Amino acid sequence: MDNFVRIVEVGARDGLQNESVVLDMQDKITLIENLIKTGLKDIEVGSCVSPKWVPQMAGSTEIYEKISKPDGINFSLLTPNLRGYEAARAVGCQEVAIFTGASETFTQKNINCSIAESLERFEDIMSRAKSDGVRVRGYVSCMVDCPYEGAIDPSAVAEVTGRLLDMGCYEVSLGETIGTATPDRVEAVWDACLERFDAGQLAGHFHNTYGMAIANVYASLKMSIRTFDSSIAGLGGCPYAKGASGNVSTEDLHYLLTHMGYDTGIDEEALMQAGKAIMERLGRPTRSNAAIAYWKKREA
Ligand code: HMG
Ligand code: MG
Repeated sequence: MDNFVRIVEVGARDGLQNESVVLDMQDKITLIENLIKTGLKDIEVGSCVSPKWVPQMAGSTEIYEKISKPDGINFSLLTPNLRGYEAARAVGCQEVAIFTGASETFTQKNINCSIAESLERFEDIMSRAKSDGVRVRGYVSCMVDCPYEGAIDPSAVAEVTGRLLDMGCYEVSLGETIGTATPDRVEAVWDACLERFDAGQLAGHFHNTYGMAIANVYASLKMSIRTFDSSIAGLGGCPYAKGASGNVSTEDLHYLLTHMGYDTGIDEEALMQAGKAIMERLGRPTRSNAAIAYWKKREA
């Protein structure tokens, strides 16, 4: 297992939350069923947030209920507060993600509270999750830059990450929310975090606005990070980070990892088919270079 790299598929959540086409429930279920066929072991299904804030995520708990849930796959829902946690639990969800940021302004715009207030809210979720035996993943947005405040001090990122780990998150995913960072700056954040935490407690979540996401994954791999979030076909962005584009595509991430000799447990053909199906439904071309090259080669 030394060369295994875990991919957390966030396309159905981070991807779809920022697409202008709002898919109906059956389309979202089809997307997730196609992702299940790929061998992915971690799939974010949606979020239990206010439908007034993020209309694209309405119906996430119904989707969670309706998808097939084969053993061995973690299906998670994003929960900003106890109300979201309770909604996730009402449909039997066994893993939730809590999310805050290393920037005060971003956190305020994203979840309408300060970083400190968000951590207080999470204490309630954590104590319930502990007694329910639910796994909790943490997210820290703005690991390098904030769309409102500019550069963020790596020590601020490490500080919030530490708080989430201390309260019981099994892992914290650091979000390069607006996709502006170059690898040198990402390395500085890992340096600050790896002084305090094990690489196994951390994950990289890179948006691809400037095409730097795959370079940032490579830099992170070299620093022993072995879990990365990605979106099928590079879907998405964050509704509260204007101009931010989608995550690194799962197809590009898979290409990088397998060609570097890492094991992902993913079936390439099934992955490519999943990306093709969702882009046909959205009616626009994929953002994955690996997928473009794959289909060109297949059609040649
Ligand atoms: P608020 O307005 O401060 O909270 O929102 P409130 O308690 O005053 O409630 C306001 C309304 O929301 C009320 O409804 C509540 O009932 C309802 P109204 O009376 O107006 O009809 N409400 C809820 N509805 C459904 N589910 C809930 C819930 N809670 C309250 N759980 C809140 C606070 C957090 C709810 C709001 O700010 C919100 O929903 N924000 C959405 C944030 C979001 O989803 N952002 C995108 C995901 S994060 C991301 O993309 C970054 C990441 O990818 C990493 C990276 O890239 O950096 C993870
Ligand atoms: Mg994101």
